[in-house]
Amino acid sequence: MHDDIAEILFTEEDIARRVDEIGAAITKDYADCAEEGVVLISVLRGAAIFMADLARKIDLPVEMDYMAISSYGNGAKSSGVVRILKDLSSQIEGRHVIVAEDILDSGLTLTYLLKNLASRRPASLEVATLLRKRTRAQAKIDCAYVGFECPDEFIVGYGLDFAERYRNLPYIGILKPEVY
Ligand code: PRP
Ligand code: MN
Ligand code: MG
Repeated sequence: MHDDIAEILFTEEDIARRVDEIGAAITKDYADCAEEGVVLISVLRGAAIFMADLARKIDLPVEMDYMAISSYGNGAKSSGVVRILKDLSSQIEGRHVIVAEDILDSGLTLTYLLKNLASRRPASLEVATLLRKRTRAQAKIDCAYVGFECPDEFIVGYGLDFAERYRNLPYIGILKPEVY
């Protein structure tokens, strides 16, 4: 285990198992769209790792596209500011869209993103989030697929960063408070 990690919450195996299950659920739920397939959209940068693994567990035609939105700077707290840093490459009108997120925390990012994507009139729009934090102040967001509920701690790994570090840890763990 990395020296800066206080506790591992989800091991590499735990994550692989849930990603497998979510991929199977999506494959089943979208069986009627087996011709046109789905568009997976990930919010850079954190969700890229989850989406890459999830895409390989969906047995349907999958298009992958990326948006960059940032609500956090390099600090531990949300700045409350959402910015589009990179837009989609594809048109999503009439497509079945699934947003892959690594974590739902305040909900600021997804609230903004879902409103933005809905205005492009996709055939359907759902969210697959690997983690949903248990916090009181979270925007109400319907997530069709949730990997794990997690405590309101500063967590890193499997895409989640602190100041751009720790994204490459294969597990998800709680960062030691003395690190931030
Ligand atoms: C993190 C995380 C989610 C978002 C969740 O991204 O990857 O996208 O925050 O927080 P929220 O529900 O409070 O909006 P961040 O903005 O840190 O960018 P990153 O993905 O590049 O790390
Ligand atoms: Mn993110
Ligand atoms: Mg971040």
